Amino acid sequence: MIPWHVAIIMDGNGRWAIKQSLPRVFGHKRGMETVKTIIQVAKSIGIKILTLYAFSTENWKRPKIEIDSLLSLLIQFLQDETSKFIKTGIRLRILGDLSKFPQYIRNELNKICKLMSKNTPHFELNIALNYGARQELVHAFKEMLKHGIDDPTEQTISSFLYTAGQPDPDLVIRTSGEFRISNFLLWQIAYSEIYVTSKLWPDFTENDLKAAISEFQKRERRFGGVNINNK
Ligand code: FPP
Repeated sequence: MIPWHVAIIMDGNGRWAIKQSLPRVFGHKRGMETVKTIIQVAKSIGIKILTLYAFSTENWKRPKIEIDSLLSLLIQFLQDETSKFIKTGIRLRILGDLSKFPQYIRNELNKICKLMSKNTPHFELNIALNYGARQELVHAFKEMLKHGIDDPTEQTISSFLYTAGQPDPDLVIRTSGEFRISNFLLWQIAYSEIYVTSKLWPDFTENDLKAAISEFQKRERRFGGVNINNK
């Protein structure tokens, strides 16, 4: 029972760098290497959708130098990986409000998403960028109003989120030991299992992902009901 959709709050890059007496940016750089590994492992073990929280609406409060280097790492990552992603059937979706990004970044992201949109998706990669779940909900409600929808159902709301058409995450993983959701996918994780590891994101390995999945496999998911076998 491999979770179909896994979402990850990649935390601890800064602490990892500080532990090595390096500037925080080096933590993000190492974090990017972890991203590459975890995408390949997730795909090979049969996860179908991987959502990575790369930049939150709150991350603009960080020093400009850190924001700039995070964004350039992300673009570098996408440029380096696009042809591999196309060859191996990975489809990319960006979750978030891109209007705050410089035009060249938006162009680059649109170009890359378009190239991958032709892929038959064997694996979908969502990267949350300038993402905040409350902002996502406000955006969805405004879009519904524009479409004249004044009596939405849960399905209608889901269909206006950035994750429209995708099943909700089965498993949310957070690294670096913090027990917080940090404005991540609030609507979509209503019934997700949550797994927190003390590992910092740059130290998160294939085995750590497998440990999270095996913990998930032990959980009894009742979705608010009861397990009739235990009654
Ligand atoms: C949290 O660590 C991590 C981030 C804010 C950014 C995550 C970005 C990457 C892993 C690199 C590039 C991403 C992709 C998708 C290629 P933190 O800086 O908050 O760590 P701290 O809590 O220890 O300070």
